[in-house]
Parts: sequence; C-alpha cells; structure tokens
Amino acid sequence: KTHRITLIPGDGIGPEVSGAVVKILEAAGAATGVAFDWHPYDAGANAFEKTGEYIPKVLYDSIEKNRVALKGPVTTPVGGGFASINVTLRKKFELFANFRPVKNLPGLKTKYPGLDLVIVRENMEDLYAGLEHEVVPGVVQALKIITEKGSTRIAKFAFDYARKHGRKKIHAIHKANIMKLSDGLFLRCCQTVAKEFPEIAYHEHIVDNTCMQLVMNPYQYDILLTENLYGDILSDLCSAFVGGLGLVPGANLGTECAIFEAVHGSAPDIAGKDLANPTALLQSAVLMLHHIDEPATAERVQAGLEQVYREGKTLTKDVGGTSGTKAFADAVVAAMEAP
Ligand code: NAI
Ligand code: MG
Repeated sequence: KTHRITLIPGDGIGPEVSGAVVKILEAAGAATGVAFDWHPYDAGANAFEKTGEYIPKVLYDSIEKNRVALKGPVTTPVGGGFASINVTLRKKFELFANFRPVKNLPGLKTKYPGLDLVIVRENMEDLYAGLEHEVVPGVVQALKIITEKGSTRIAKFAFDYARKHGRKKIHAIHKANIMKLSDGLFLRCCQTVAKEFPEIAYHEHIVDNTCMQLVMNPYQYDILLTENLYGDILSDLCSAFVGGLGLVPGANLGTECAIFEAVHGSAPDIAGKDLANPTALLQSAVLMLHHIDEPATAERVQAGLEQVYREGKTLTKDVGGTSGTKAFADAVVAAMEAP
C-alpha cells in the first residue's frame, strides 16, 4: 500500500532530522510492504523567499488532500516578523489536540527509569493563539481566550485516550486561583467530562506547584491535561526526564487532518553540524504510522530504535554518545535489518 504524506522538512536541524526519518521509514516500509509518496514543502522564511508566502497555498492544499503531514521544526522570529507557522497550521486545520507521550526508551539510562506520562495539550486557544495589540504606546494587550467548546473537547480527548489505553489518572493543570474566569471555565469543563469517566481518577493541580511536583516526583502523574501555554512549557520540562528534547514526539490531531512533529524547535545552535538527534521526529513518525494504520511498520521502526539505544554504541551527543545524525539513522536501519 502507498501512503501520500505531506513532508515539511523545516528549518535549522529540520532537514537533517527529517532526512534521517525518511530514510528509516523507507527501509521499514520496504520490508513490510508499505510505500510512502512524500510531498515535500517549505514553510516559513524559506517558503517566503521562494514563493512570497510563509505558508504556500500548495502546502495547505497538500495537507488538505493527504490529511497527514510529517513536520520538522520551523523557526519563528522573536518579537516581530511573521506569525508562528505552527500556530497558523494548527488553527487552519483545527488540530485541537496536541498529544505528547513522555516515555523512557528502554536502554537509555535516565534519572527516571520507566517514566511513562502523557501530556494532552489544548492546541488552538489561550495566550498561545498570539492575539495581541498595542492599546496605546507603552501598553499592549494579549488576549487569553478560553472556550467551553475547546476545553470540553480537549478534556474529552484526554479521558477517551485514558479509557482506551487503560490509563488511571488525569491531572488538569491550571491557575484558576488567579485567572478565575478563564482557567475556571477550563476546570469546570474538565470536571463535567470527568463525571462521565468514573473509573479514571481526576485531580487538579496549580501549574507552578506542578513544576515543583514534577521535578520532585514525576511518577505521581499519568496524564497531564493542560491549556495551550502551560502544555507548551511543561512539555519541555518533562522532556528532560527522559533524555531531553531530542527524544519527545508529538501529534497535532484534529477531526480531519493530523500533523506529526517533535516537541523541539529548529535548534539553530547545532544546525548543519550532524549533531541533532532524530529520535523525537522518528517517534513522531511512529505515532503517524499507527495513525495511518500501519502497525507492523511502526513496530519495526520502534524495535530498531530501541535496539540501537540498548546497544548504546551509536548514540548522538545529547544522550551521551559520540555519533552523528546520519550514523545514528544508519544504525537504526541496520538494527531493523538484523535477523
Ligand atoms: P529548541 O527546541 O530548538 O532547542 C532547545 C535546546 O535543545 C537547544 O540547546 C537545542 O540544541 C536542543 N535540541 C533541540 N532539539 C534537539 C535534537 N533533536 N537533538 C539534540 N538537541 C536538540 O528551542 P529554541 O532554541 O528555543 O527554539 C529555536 C527555534 O525553534 C525558535 O525559532 C522557535 O520558535 C522554534 N520552535 C519551533 C517549533 C516547531 O516548529 N514545532 C517548536 C519549538 C520551537
Ligand atoms: Mg514548545
């Protein structure tokens, strides 16, 4: 079977990690009878240089048609310039759920062996939507919009996921002591949905305390259910438990389309040096393979990846190794093909 997939290589380390992932997926697909028809597009500054648009119409059309995209990180300018490509794509395709499993890879030694938690982040609302304006010179306003619809559907997503995968506990993360109306509405929606899932324990933690609790004992959490901005920040924090940003994958999910991408950004500090760890994007691709109903290919990739970490000989620098992005990718391909 052939799958048409929109590919956004992205900026910085994006082309390196997506190149590695495509190579590994091609090898896994060849062995399991699955072919990929990649449709690659630029987005952001590169796209603007070539087409005069930050997100070319052909890219929108491609995602609309293929319904599945694999995306590398895109650089977003600080303090001005164009709006975030990520935020724009998430809004455009109503990718309301951001699913981020934070799980230890067997074989990789970390401070928290066996940790396995999931961040379910609302993906379209909140301060993260970037709705800002200058009121008068010297005063700006940023709008935090939280809706019953958005909060209820992300809560429903988290509880449905928990039920389907036998997860036991959900913590809604908030600051409703201060943002009584907005985070208050979010919490009320979570509480209402929680009532439909009596078998899943429901708790509420304030976000600043959550940061402390996470660092003290991340094992106490199972699923973290968050608004958009808290989820963004907690994701990077949690990535450190399992080896850092080079590891943690993500899926932006809507009812029509899905975009799979790592938690990390374009990492300009290591770009173009063959230093980036493609594991996070590779694990995002594994989520994608399950999404397009190719579990055998997904399992082959995951097994190869875990084998390379167990052997520990060909790891990238961020996880204590000395190998480059390309050598790591070749090792995963070799591990998949070893008898
Ligand atoms: P970053 O995630 O790019 O990098 C943070 C740190 O983690 C850096 O030290 C980097 O070297 C390291 N790192 C990240 N990914 C790695 C990998 N795969 N392997 C090894 N080390 C890795 O965050 P930063 O520097 O704050 O953002 C850089 C740019 O990325 C910004 O323009 C930001 O807007 C953009 N960004 C884009 C995202 C996306 O497209 N989904 C997500 C997050 C940030
Ligand atoms: Mg982030």
